[in-house]
Amino acid sequence: MSDCDDPAGLAPEVPTLGGQRCTLRALRPSDAPALQRHADDPAVAYNLFDGFPQPYTRADAERWCGTQHRELGFAHVFGIVPGGGETADQAADEVVGCISVTPQDGLWGSSAVLGYWLGQAYWRRGITSEALSLVTAWAWATMPGITRLWMPIYARNLGSQAVARRAGYVLEGRMPLAIRKSGQAIDAVMFGCIRPGMRPSEGA
Ligand SMILES: CC(C)(COP(=O)(O)OP(=O)(O)OC[C@H]1O[C@@H](n2cnc3c(N)ncnc32)[C@H](O)[C@@H]1OP(=O)(O)O)[C@@H](O)C(=O)NCCC(=O)NCCS
Repeated sequence: MSDCDDPAGLAPEVPTLGGQRCTLRALRPSDAPALQRHADDPAVAYNLFDGFPQPYTRADAERWCGTQHRELGFAHVFGIVPGGGETADQAADEVVGCISVTPQDGLWGSSAVLGYWLGQAYWRRGITSEALSLVTAWAWATMPGITRLWMPIYARNLGSQAVARRAGYVLEGRMPLAIRKSGQAIDAVMFGCIRPGMRPSEGA
């Protein structure tokens, strides 16, 4: 797929993906108030990279829900709406988190990196596990040149590691003191999966 069909150099809008526990859809400017409410939470930011604003202001949310989320450094970003089918939550159509898949280039051009967060009020309902499974299937279907999906996770973030496992990712390694978070060096773990039907190349 082309990552840059838009004259402004933005990624194309993502489709809607439906699950049992959540629906993933493109962000809209009108999502900013809800997104800010869920993102402006130190418990959400604690295990996210320092570039995730905290406090998360309305201006941050408006920028993100406008075009920032389609810039190629982030693409492709889905908003997470709780509920699949005709549940009350889905009728509210409120974005309570985001999940992204970002193709890499150069040396890592066979890989894409995933990232996700969910508003605390919705934790432990299986929503992110399902969202990750949906985006993983979408990435395999739409990114033929990508053979590996992966994410760096803080070693302390057991919840995210459980989510990754539930979606079929495996622990590939640990990178001691590789991450800088709030001025401190902390360990990262890498979770990844390779394209179904493919095997690691010789020597792996
Ligand atoms: C980590 C996070 C994405 C988990 O999302 P979630 O929707 O609550 O995860 P799920 O409900 O799909 O969890 C599946 C399993 O993960 C495990 N899990 C989830 N949160 C956990 C936690 N805080 N501690 C330990 N295990 C956890 C559990 O085994 C859970 O199953 P269970 O509820 O049946 O016990 C969410 O807490 C979050 O957004 N945190 C802040 C941002 C973040 O850490 N993003 C990931 C960066 S790599």
